[in-house]
Amino acid sequence: MGFFLLIKATTFMISTLMFTFVPFTRSVPFVVFHGISDKCSNKGVKQFTERLTKWSGIQGHCIEIGDGAWDSWTMPLLDQTEIACEKVKSMSELSDGYNLIGLSQGSLIARGVIEFCDGGPPVKNLITLAGIHAGIASIPFCGSTIICLLLDDLIKSEIYSTYVQEHLAPSGYIKIPTDIPAYLKGCSFLPKVNNEIKNTRNSTYKERFASLENLVLIMVS
Ligand SMILES: *[C@@H]1O[C@H](CO)[C@@H](O)[C@H](O)[C@H]1NC(C)=O
Repeated sequence: MGFFLLIKATTFMISTLMFTFVPFTRSVPFVVFHGISDKCSNKGVKQFTERLTKWSGIQGHCIEIGDGAWDSWTMPLLDQTEIACEKVKSMSELSDGYNLIGLSQGSLIARGVIEFCDGGPPVKNLITLAGIHAGIASIPFCGSTIICLLLDDLIKSEIYSTYVQEHLAPSGYIKIPTDIPAYLKGCSFLPKVNNEIKNTRNSTYKERFASLENLVLIMVS
């Protein structure tokens, strides 16, 4: 759990900075995508969204994907992105454009929505905190609960196998530096969102990402 607590604590601290430095266009609503193991109803994300709303005077929404914590671990990121896409499309208050804020794994969902969501409302600004844009080299330590042990077993089998890719969300952004060919071939999300596969690069993804008015990527150590 240390990994997640660290991220939560850090994003919380950084949120204070955001209130000071990042100018939002008035009246543009915002959407938050939370990180792994989290859910919109959890205190941290709720406070984060509420504080941003209070500061900006603009309605913000934390968008939940599936049931939150469990699906954040087990639902492939492409599926999560698709659900997020349908949700933003169904929210009429976003139709003139909105700002996106991604926390940790939610940063990838945010970028997926920007790049893949055909017919979605325009995203004006993207801010990510602890975004995993270049992937991670191993699975973060989950803990010793039964779920974590099961996940560890899954990981040990084979990270780029279809089975793991379909059942473990973080496998979609595991980029093992010593095995890039396997990553490009088997990893279902990051190579696509980063346009990394030579023959299938999609200029539409690039155009959509480049059309952002502002991009703010906040790194944590
Ligand atoms: C690129 O992505 C767009 C948007 O999803 C899609 O309409 C188009 O068919 C894709 N192009 C290629 C060459 O795959």
